[in-house]
Amino acid sequence: MDKIVIRGGTPLFGDIAISGAKNSAIKLMAVSILTSEPVTLTNMPRLRDTRFMGQLLAHMGIDVKDGTGAVMRLHGKKLTSTTAPYDLVRKMRATFNVLGPLLARAGQARVSLPGGCAIGARPVDLHLKALEALGAEITLDAGYVDAKAPKGLTGAEITFPFISVGATEHTLLACVLAKGITVLNNCAREPEIIDLANCLIAMGAKIEGAGRSQITVTGVSSLSGAQHSVVPDRIEAGTYALAAATTGGAVRLTNIRSDHLGSLWPLIAQAGAKVSLDETTVLIERDSGPLKPVDIDTQAYPGFPTDLQAQFMAMMTLADGVSIIRENIFENRFMHCPELTRMGADITVTGREAIVRGVKELKGAQVMATDLRASASLISAGLVAKGTTHIGRVYHLDRGFENIEIKLSQCGAQIQRMPED
Ligand code: UD1
Repeated sequence: MDKIVIRGGTPLFGDIAISGAKNSAIKLMAVSILTSEPVTLTNMPRLRDTRFMGQLLAHMGIDVKDGTGAVMRLHGKKLTSTTAPYDLVRKMRATFNVLGPLLARAGQARVSLPGGCAIGARPVDLHLKALEALGAEITLDAGYVDAKAPKGLTGAEITFPFISVGATEHTLLACVLAKGITVLNNCAREPEIIDLANCLIAMGAKIEGAGRSQITVTGVSSLSGAQHSVVPDRIEAGTYALAAATTGGAVRLTNIRSDHLGSLWPLIAQAGAKVSLDETTVLIERDSGPLKPVDIDTQAYPGFPTDLQAQFMAMMTLADGVSIIRENIFENRFMHCPELTRMGADITVTGREAIVRGVKELKGAQVMATDLRASASLISAGLVAKGTTHIGRVYHLDRGFENIEIKLSQCGAQIQRMPED
């Protein structure tokens, strides 16, 4: 297992090219289940999570060509298995989203339940209820979901009781091949949902309203192949923007969609950094002056993303005053707090709220990555801390950040990957 070692205290200067979005890429890979023709994805990030998804799809008989560079070709001419075994699903929750497309194409599926994870229980009840509304017969057996739709899925009107990114995407992946019309209400509106819908539309699906809270899908009998470019990763972009604002310096991010981070830019500016934007790039600049405290409140898109909460908190540990950070999406997403506290931060967590009292400096320490985005907050903290920080369990980072230490080194960070002792 590797660790990351950072010698902190160096401001960042340089350019970072943002990769394709992890959260979009793994759902886009699942569209290959829906067609017997090849699907080519460009701007694909090379990550542990896309590798896991590739392994699962290969297990189902899909030919996955993950060449060098950012292109992946998936060809599911014939499915040889409709089972997603525990060993492959437990590594990454989003693999559960193969259930709907398997049902849609093959009329049956057996997929392991994903279980909880460090940031909360993360049930899949909304996913299962939506598939049942489309006519699937579902039983739970020994940790597996057994689903059947012998006569195919049928369109329905489904109202999600609260907003779920995964349930919106999963239902979309199933109902594109259902008979008749499906109306989905109270959908998530994340850019990754628009990305998935655009790829499905290029394959011949009839979808209206992706990116709004009501989506209408008119089922088609088959889908063709397509070529699709994965949307830029707004969470990776936000992570580097926050790292630059935290350490100071001047970092230009390229290959972004700046409109996808509309909730972040004003808050970075409020904290004291200069933000200069155009459609596809952003320049973050901050001199050595103090950071100002800013309160944040995570919300579904277009609100402030929960996936940037930990990184924003790392910045606020050094603000000149008190900031209040409220996590509304996941019930247990403050595991980075004890680790930041080990580095000298002053944070009190009560329920879903963290009170962060800014300190003059953070000090390097041995810390542990607990989940994907929390790990990124420790990198930010390590980059600004005095002394050396050792971050263990970096496999979390490798799930979602392509070449993180290379991208940061190019901006002058003293960061290295090493084998853990
Ligand atoms: C996705 C993202 C994740 C992001 C999250 C919220 C991927 C791979 N992951 O996760 O990075 O943090 O959106 O923006 O795209 N819930 C239920 N029942 C369900 C489904 C969800 O109770 O059937 C709950 C969850 O536990 C959570 C909330 O709803 O508290 C929102 O979760 P959801 O939007 O579904 O997140 P994911 O799709 O899992």
